[in-house]
Amino acid sequence: MKDELVNKIATIRRTAMSELTNIADEDAVRELRVKYLGRKGIIQSLLSEMSALPSHVRPEVGKEINELKAFLIEELDKKTKVFLEISREEIIAKGRLDITLPGRYVKPGHRHPLRTTMESIVDIFTGLGFSIYEGPEVETDYYNFEALNVPPEHPARDMHDTFYVEGGLLLRTHTSPVQIRVMEKERPPIFMIAPGAVYRRDSDISHSPMFHQVEGLLVDKDINFGHLKEVLAVFCRKMFGEKRDVRFRPSFFPFTEPSAEVDISCVICQGKGCRICKMSGWVEILGCGMVHPLVFKSVNINPKKYTGFAFGLGIERIAMLIYGINDIRLFYENDMRFLEQF
Ligand code: DAH
Repeated sequence: MKDELVNKIATIRRTAMSELTNIADEDAVRELRVKYLGRKGIIQSLLSEMSALPSHVRPEVGKEINELKAFLIEELDKKTKVFLEISREEIIAKGRLDITLPGRYVKPGHRHPLRTTMESIVDIFTGLGFSIYEGPEVETDYYNFEALNVPPEHPARDMHDTFYVEGGLLLRTHTSPVQIRVMEKERPPIFMIAPGAVYRRDSDISHSPMFHQVEGLLVDKDINFGHLKEVLAVFCRKMFGEKRDVRFRPSFFPFTEPSAEVDISCVICQGKGCRICKMSGWVEILGCGMVHPLVFKSVNINPKKYTGFAFGLGIERIAMLIYGINDIRLFYENDMRFLEQF
C-alpha cells in the first residue's frame, strides 16, 4: 500500500515535469495549478489516500507529498513570472512611441459669441461700479410680476408669453425679478447688474424660447433721469464705439415711470437706413426708466428718500448687431461652421 502510493507520487512528479515544460501560455499555467493544487486536485487526493495508510508510515509518505507540492508551487510560480514578463514586453513593444511622428493637432476651443457679448456688457458695468447678482430661473408670480407692479389680470402680462411650471411657479420672463430679490435684502446705495437666461413662449428668426438679458439697477439718494441717460450713453459708446449716436424714446414699463427705450444708430448702415434697422437708421437695444414708487413700496424702500433707475437689455439682440447675425436660432444650434467664425 505504502510503496504503491510512493510510486504513484513519483509518476505524478514525472508527468507534472513534462507538462510543465510543454506549457504554452498563462492560461495553461492556471489550468495546471488547478489540476494539481486545486481543492479537488491531485495533491489533495493523494493526501486523502494517505489517510488510509497505517499511522507509522504516514509521516514518510506525507513528506513525499509535501515535497511534490512545494516543487509544483515553485515551478508554477516560475512559469507565471515568465509569462508575465513576456506580456509586459509585448505591451511595451506595441506601445512604443515614435517620437519622430508629428503631434496630433488639438483644436483649441473658444467662448461662445453670446458668452463673449455677455462678458463685454458685464465688464463695462462692473467698471462703472456695479456688482453682479444672480436669481433663480424658476420664479414665483410675485417676483416676476406682482412686486414689479404687474398685478394679476394686468394687460402688461400679455407682453410676456409665460411658461408656467408645476406648483404655481413659472420660468422668469425677464431678469427684473432679481431687482426685487436684491432690494429685499440690501439697502441703498444699490448698484447691481444681473445677467442670466430668461424664457418666453416665442420662436422665430428674432425670438427664441430661451434667451439672455442683463438687468441693471441703481438706487441712491437724488438719482434722476440725467444719471440714467449718462450711464446708458456711456455703456452704448463703450459697447458699440465712441461715434455711436444714442437716443432715448418715451416708452412704457409697469415697473418704471417715466420709461424709455434706447436706440443706437444702426451698426450695419451707420444710420443711413437698411434692412436690419427697417430703413429707420436706428435700432432698439434696451428698456429703462426711473424705478416706480410702487416697486420701492413692495421692498420697503422709502420713495421719498430714495430714487433710482433700472434697465434691461437683451444679450442676443446686442450680439446679433455686433456680429451681423440675422437669425437668433444660429446661437443655439452648435453648428461648428457657425461657431468657428468667432
Ligand atoms: N424687463 C423688461 C423686459 O424684459 C426690460 C426692462 C425694461 C427692464 C425697463 C428694466 C426696465 O429694468 O427698467 O422687457
